[in-house]
Amino acid sequence: MALSFDFPDNPSFLGDDVIEGVWDDPGFGQYFTDHMSVASWTVEEGWHNDRLTDYAQISMEPASAVYHYAQEIFEGLKAYRHADGSVWLFRPEANAKRFENSAHRLALPALPAEDFITSVRQLTALDARWVPGGAEQSLYLRPFMMASENFLGVRPAHSVLYVVIASPVGSYFAGGVAPVDIWISTEYSRVATGGTGSAKCGGNYAASLLPQELAYAQGCSQVLFVDAASKRWIEELGGMNFFMITADDELVTPELNGNILPGVTRDSLLTVAPDLGLKPIERPISLEEVTTGITTGAIRELFACGTAAVITPIRSLKNESGEYIIDVDKATHTIPLRNHLLDIQYGRIADSHGWMQQV
Ligand code: COI
Repeated sequence: MALSFDFPDNPSFLGDDVIEGVWDDPGFGQYFTDHMSVASWTVEEGWHNDRLTDYAQISMEPASAVYHYAQEIFEGLKAYRHADGSVWLFRPEANAKRFENSAHRLALPALPAEDFITSVRQLTALDARWVPGGAEQSLYLRPFMMASENFLGVRPAHSVLYVVIASPVGSYFAGGVAPVDIWISTEYSRVATGGTGSAKCGGNYAASLLPQELAYAQGCSQVLFVDAASKRWIEELGGMNFFMITADDELVTPELNGNILPGVTRDSLLTVAPDLGLKPIERPISLEEVTTGITTGAIRELFACGTAAVITPIRSLKNESGEYIIDVDKATHTIPLRNHLLDIQYGRIADSHGWMQQV
């Protein structure tokens, strides 16, 4: 039977004075709404005990398997407030599908797409006053699932917890849409063939943290990973997909080879590219092609994309052997592409792909 994540009988809300201070500068992932969606799963009962409840601490024993073996997955999607005050989700079914795929790779139970969407819709509806209305602001929804069984043997857990929390957000990067410098990680890899690269699991992000620190030390704000085996092929950044735009107006991104997260923003940009005069192409991209192409002018623009950061232009790629700088003043496609996607999400242009769902 489908889960319903019903509203609590007497929901409690923080006073308006508490949230008013958030609107000026919500930042990213710093504030959380009044409630959360929760459901439990066991081998014996399947999914059950679905509910909306106060945002509060999760109580789990120290022996819970997730603390030891990282059997955990998550998602990220946003709700947008349109000019008429209505609230809309962007492609929640795409996140639901990816969550199912991630669950399969991490040996977690599948949460049916219908239940995933209900959990997100219900929380957004109950906490709708937390959906900000400022420029580039939105409500970031974070569904996650983790092993909750108290057991130290290494096998898939027999009990699991699913939770959705929500956070009013502005820009992911403090500099907003300002172009960023990227450090190419050759020492450390994010994933390897046959690993968890295409799953959205916490472990992939944990593995990116040390290389990310090294990037900061080089004055860069993100790290770019190449394939672990040959160190030749570009994969993705620590938490975003990689794109380049050629002098021939091709919009090129690494193909989904099992090591790359199938980003919803990535897929959306490939879909809208022809509307902006760009030819979408998914294929292997070598580091050499990019560094040479920047130097010769064959590659005009680079950017990173994801739900959290939308599109962030890349100003330079750096590694031990040099720095390759894009002339961002000559970038003509990145910002129009970004604006096009935002216009759909904020309801400023027609949603011809049927991506938006009203809450
Ligand atoms: C997103 O873009 O939603 C991400 O998951 C990236 C990062 C915040 C983990």
